[in-house]
Amino acid sequence: MTKKITIGILGGTSYTGIELIRLLACHEKAEICFVSSRSSAGERLSGVFPEIKSLFDTVLISPDESKTKPVDCVFSCLPHAVSAELCMPFINKGVRVIDLSADFRFKNPAVYETWYKHKHPAVHLLPDAVYGLPEHYRKQIAGAKILANPGCYVTSVLLPLIPLFKTMSSRIEWVIADSKSGVSGAGRTLRLDTHFCETNENFSAYSIGHVHRHTPEMEQELSFAAGRPVTLTFSPHLLPVNRGILSTIYIKTSISAQECAGIVSAAYAREPFIRLRDEKDLPNLHMVVFTNYCDIAFTGGDNGHPVIAVAALDNLIKGASGQAVQNMNIMYGFPETTGLLR
Ligand SMILES: NC(=O)c1ccc[n+]([C@@H]2O[C@H](COP(=O)([O-])OP(=O)(O)OC[C@H]3O[C@@H](n4cnc5c(N)ncnc54)[C@H](OP(=O)(O)O)[C@@H]3O)[C@@H](O)[C@H]2O)c1
Repeated sequence: MTKKITIGILGGTSYTGIELIRLLACHEKAEICFVSSRSSAGERLSGVFPEIKSLFDTVLISPDESKTKPVDCVFSCLPHAVSAELCMPFINKGVRVIDLSADFRFKNPAVYETWYKHKHPAVHLLPDAVYGLPEHYRKQIAGAKILANPGCYVTSVLLPLIPLFKTMSSRIEWVIADSKSGVSGAGRTLRLDTHFCETNENFSAYSIGHVHRHTPEMEQELSFAAGRPVTLTFSPHLLPVNRGILSTIYIKTSISAQECAGIVSAAYAREPFIRLRDEKDLPNLHMVVFTNYCDIAFTGGDNGHPVIAVAALDNLIKGASGQAVQNMNIMYGFPETTGLLR
């Protein structure tokens, strides 16, 4: 049996962190060597997440102590800004880093600094970072030293749209992405607007139009696909469920929903985690939560109306930790579905 790759996890007390630990603890080719936490350093992971005890446990170490640990690969589940800072010592030692935050997703540092209101600490590293959407960057991912894992909403919007922008960009007039996310999308850090009484039996829009930070990331990748600047309207909503994202994407185009489905279905014919669904069987959250799948369907488009794409995924898996493991599998030459089929 080949040696397992050794893994460190920064920010292991996060929602994406515990999901990553669940996936990696069952991964036949990976061994978790450290999990860091600022606020719970010195405590056992099972003290923070009792449900993990029979699967994996360890004493959490501080971010500072983590820098002394030799590992092959580090996953960062930290907030943006903090993430790049804490990843740098590992990157400087040649450790491969998979960053779940937005810090390495932008090719243009000015776009990052405008939208994230933070001066990027490692602009010189941005050209080396690979955007980790496996369905479109598999070759580059295989050689990545710094892997920028895409945003959760972004993944649900890009997967149906990129094949269309790659093949028929001139026939797309405009796009509106109307997305709904479960509350875990906002993270585990306490906030008034994600308290139970604020979200339960409620449904609200926030950061709508051209305001949410995932908008420039969508625009960057759609512009690369189209070979021209692309803008879109993006309106996120908070759903009173724990997990899952459903994006309803309106595409003003001269081609039919059937043709769009044909293009996307051909693009993803060999993709293990994309499932094209029929318009009579539209994707919903139950079809995808706790899995690494993104389900997509196309409908509408009659009598001059927009074509409508519906895409669903689990924000913590295909939208974060599952996609990160998929990227790790590609980076280390493991079968891409290792540890992810369930
Ligand atoms: N939630 C999602 O659906 C989702 C999806 C895709 C990508 N992401 C991205 O993934 C990252 C993690 O998201 P999350 O939602 O899982 O986060 P979260 O649940 O809010 O947890 C944040 C983590 O960061 C640590 N942390 C916070 N401030 C820190 C600081 N100043 N120094 C060191 N550690 C700090 C916390 O650790 P301690 O308090 O223990 O120190 C905690 O483990 C974020 O960048 C997020 O944008 C999230």
